[in-house]
Amino acid sequence: MADIIPVDDPADPRLSDFTDLTDVELRRRREPAEGLFVAEGEKVIRRAAQAGYPMRSMLLSEKWLPVMRDVLDQVRAPAYVMSPEAAEQVTGYHVHRGALASMGRTPLPEPGALLATARRVVIMEAVNDHTNIGAVFRSAAALGMDGVLLSPSCADPLYRRSVKVSMGAVFSVPYARLGTWPGGLKPVREAGFRLLAFTPDEDAVPLDDIGAHRLPRVALLLGAEGDGLSARAMRAADDRVRIPMAHGVDSLNVGAAAAVAFYAATRT
Ligand SMILES: C[S@@+](CC[C@H](N)C(=O)[O-])C[C@H]1O[C@@H](n2cnc3c(N)ncnc32)[C@H](O)[C@@H]1O
Repeated sequence: MADIIPVDDPADPRLSDFTDLTDVELRRRREPAEGLFVAEGEKVIRRAAQAGYPMRSMLLSEKWLPVMRDVLDQVRAPAYVMSPEAAEQVTGYHVHRGALASMGRTPLPEPGALLATARRVVIMEAVNDHTNIGAVFRSAAALGMDGVLLSPSCADPLYRRSVKVSMGAVFSVPYARLGTWPGGLKPVREAGFRLLAFTPDEDAVPLDDIGAHRLPRVALLLGAEGDGLSARAMRAADDRVRIPMAHGVDSLNVGAAAAVAFYAATRT
């Protein structure tokens, strides 16, 4: 059962997991180094706890105590109760969703372990926008993808914004980080996956012609806003695939492209 602790002073050192949440650069460095991430809002906190992440502490206002009661009953962690105004001084913003939880990170699986049981995976190259990472995970969960592989320079799926946008899907879809790029694609192909590089290029094969849902094992490669997939990643793939577009649009947002690609790969 959580220890409910009223706190008045925003400078209280026990609140350090929740300080300066709006300083993206600081939090990007601090959170992996300190082995924590921040879950925000009732649903996301509940999903993180259900997924087995250990709770370090919670920060919430008094009116959220009854809402979070079931979670608080199940964890052994301090729950700091503050006024919304004092909490804002700690975090740097008004916490609309009323409750924050600092969760401990758990070790990521090795790519090989993830691939052993997967048939349909997505591989992101250098996607460093937390909103896009969250959107891709949300679609991956909703459309039944088996896992996510990240190139070494992809942003952290457990950063608060990614967690929030994914609605907690980062906890339910297994993911791993490739150690090298694009060298890390070789074992994916050796495991029997066909590598499809998604690109808006006109000379790529239209998605419908690939029949991705008929392939026994398929890996869908997606690139970042701006640069898209690198030439090296494209060369390492088996096919270059495009989602046909209309009205002179030159590309889809990667989250939208992901949803279309996942549907094509998973429909039966
Ligand atoms: C905003 S796009 C990048 C645009 C970039 N200028 C390019 O040419 O790839 C981000 C990623 O979404 C995917 N994507 C976007 N539109 C696509 C389309 N029409 N067909 C296939 N993939 C697409 C690709 O993986 C791309 O790397």
